[in-house]
Amino acid sequence: MILVTGGAGFIGANFILDWIGTNGEPVVNLDKLTYAGNLGNLASIDGDARHVFVRGDIGDRAQVGALLARHRPRAVLNFAAETHVDRSILGPAAFVETNVVATFALLDTVRGWWAELPASEKAQFRFIHVSTDEVYGSLGTADPAFSETTPYAPNSPYAASKAASDHLVRAYCHTYGLPTLTTNCSNNYGPRQFPEKLVPLMIVNALAGKPLPVYGDGANVRDWLYVGDHCAALRAVLAHGRAGETYNVGGGAEVANIEVVRMVCRMLAEARPGPDYMAQIAFVKDRPGHDRRYAIDAAKIRRELGWSPAESFESGMRRTLQWYLDNPGWLAGVTSGEYKKWISLNYAASAA
Ligand code: NAD
Ligand code: TYD
Repeated sequence: MILVTGGAGFIGANFILDWIGTNGEPVVNLDKLTYAGNLGNLASIDGDARHVFVRGDIGDRAQVGALLARHRPRAVLNFAAETHVDRSILGPAAFVETNVVATFALLDTVRGWWAELPASEKAQFRFIHVSTDEVYGSLGTADPAFSETTPYAPNSPYAASKAASDHLVRAYCHTYGLPTLTTNCSNNYGPRQFPEKLVPLMIVNALAGKPLPVYGDGANVRDWLYVGDHCAALRAVLAHGRAGETYNVGGGAEVANIEVVRMVCRMLAEARPGPDYMAQIAFVKDRPGHDRRYAIDAAKIRRELGWSPAESFESGMRRTLQWYLDNPGWLAGVTSGEYKKWISLNYAASAA
């Protein structure tokens, strides 16, 4: 079996659904259920014996140690993190606590347990650390895309905290021989993404007749990847990746934010005609320290592991939009209480 952390969040939940659907090997899912964790993401495998959910913190050494001893996973995939750049600007402490301190405790607990395993299990074990391209900083228009050898230059507290965890993961492989692999992936979008991030926020606001807040001039570029393609990349890295290596994962789909928002408006106008969605676009104050451009050179994972994305940005966005239209109950469940507080806090601060 495998141990997934953060499996009630956006990518972790998509990974577990994908894993149970394609592989069927049992998964233990350790998640703290922060505001971003949602067991409703896993409703379709409710009662499936191959998924064991455990509420807990990756920083809790006793709990993680007990889970490892009981389940003896052949791999740990670490998705658990604080993940939203804007939140990291308004409250960086939680990012250091989870992404640095708690991730260190997870890594160290896994190392202690792994060190006592019989030699063959030790050699086969894998620790996959799911990280981000934001650790590389920001690109100019003409710069080459991020490769695995691009120097780290994190700009936001979120990116800095992920960079710190990447360094610890690297050191645990180099120093103790723990078989770790790190993936640095570009912006994901798809079903079950919490509507604080660009794509789902635009869908939710557009449907509600609210403003579509575009930071700055809207020309910041992200390299978008459909979440299902990220899950496939992680399966490939687990199956065939070389321990100690890092792999950049990206869709080769560089799009400016304003174009992403316009695409949402165009697709919604087809699916739910009536409102003038484009008229809802509102340029607001820029995010402090806003990275201008991210782009991933995914040549290594393509070459070594034969991975490539199945979805284009257009096809992935269509699937995503349809999922949100088909799942109003999911949306209603995540857009109450704490969510409303966040929206008023962040967008009051960023009003133009
Ligand atoms: P998310 O915010 O949707 O989910 C994070 C999950 O981690 C939640 O379920 C939360 O409850 C859980 N969690 C937080 N702190 C925890 C703790 N201390 N112990 C246990 N569980 C905890 O995040 P996501 O978008 O699914 O991202 C998952 C991972 O992928 C992160 O490590 C992130 O840095 C990385 N990543 C995300 C993107 C993206 O575009 N979303 C891109 C590249 C990499
Ligand atoms: P986001 O989804 O927060 O991901 P990240 O900051 O990790 O790339 O934001 C994606 C891009 O969209 C980023 O350039 C910031 C921008 N953005 C807006 O313009 N308006 C918004 O309301 C949000 C949430 C993001």
